[in-house]
Amino acid sequence: MTMPTIKDRPRIAIIGGGIIGMSVGWRLAQAGASVDIFDRGTAGQGATRAAAGMLAAGVEAEPGEQPLLPLCLESQTRWPGFAAELETLTGLPVGLRREGTLVVASTRDEVELLRANYEFQRGLGLDLVWLTGAAAKEKEPFLNPRTAAGVFSARDGQVDNRLASAALRSALQKTGARLHEGVDVTGLDVQGGRIGGVVLGDRIVAADQVVLAAGAWSRLVPGQASPPPVRPVKGQMMSLAMDPANPLLTHVVWAPKCYLVPRTDGTLIIGATTEEKGFDSQMTAGGILALLDAAWRALPGVEELPVKEMWTGLRPGCRDDAPILGRAAGMDGLILATGHHRNGILLAPITADTIADLVLTGRTDPHIARFAADRFNAARAA
Ligand code: GLY
Repeated sequence: MTMPTIKDRPRIAIIGGGIIGMSVGWRLAQAGASVDIFDRGTAGQGATRAAAGMLAAGVEAEPGEQPLLPLCLESQTRWPGFAAELETLTGLPVGLRREGTLVVASTRDEVELLRANYEFQRGLGLDLVWLTGAAAKEKEPFLNPRTAAGVFSARDGQVDNRLASAALRSALQKTGARLHEGVDVTGLDVQGGRIGGVVLGDRIVAADQVVLAAGAWSRLVPGQASPPPVRPVKGQMMSLAMDPANPLLTHVVWAPKCYLVPRTDGTLIIGATTEEKGFDSQMTAGGILALLDAAWRALPGVEELPVKEMWTGLRPGCRDDAPILGRAAGMDGLILATGHHRNGILLAPITADTIADLVLTGRTDPHIARFAADRFNAARAA
């Protein structure tokens, strides 16, 4: 990437200070752009904070999502470098862990489903290993004794999304990007179909290009010619406190109807419901009951653990579960980086690299070529 001179330093406004907006902003500021990020609340406190931080391109690959897999795998490959760069720059840890991820099943029905998913995922070339129940319990001794089978993905792991978010905030500061919090973007300044900046109530902040990275709220940013078809998909989650010196779990574990993510500090995250409830972000008794029941079936020892926290988040979902990455239709200078659904943390490094490249050079990286917003028009026309 050629470093622009100060004279022609591009001014970039980013709407949304989640992990996507902050990562893109960091890359742009590193390349010499003048970057302003606007968040309606506090940066990193929406879906970025709610996430579990799983880097699970392998075990999360679902039928119908094959086009997404190369993007997820590539971003997962970039995470160690992204994490190391962030940690070196800021001196802050991001909690990247790569000890592998385990999927477990107990009943015959669950084992059959696990086998079908395993065969599908192996068919995609993913390097997964089938385990007997005993072998799964060797990896995680506190799993339910009834655990009958497992699948192990050595390359899947996790990052601590809350730590990564704090590190990104510091990286933005160190690279000279400006973060504006509690600021609502009320419109886009557009002249002759070309973006001129963002509108904040009665003032305009001029920008050569604007990146829309507002997660579940992306469709609602006023003034767009063609708002992206992103909707909120609610997830309820909770965490328990393990003894960090003697944790109940050391790998990320996917069990029927829940996943369990052990952090180094002893936090055990249990997630997540998937609910179509619009912008409703209430915790419900049913949501917590479902999570605890599923977690207890997989790992009975959770019943002794203190409850630490409960929260909800809104995933930015798209019809095909893939993100929208590329130029917006009908508005020169507006770039979309949204709709990451279940994969916002995983896809942060590749989104940052490719969107910064698109903004600075006009080049669409082949990794994101198929994820432009116009794919939805093509689907309608077909
Ligand atoms: N990627 C995990 C979730 O969306 O709950």
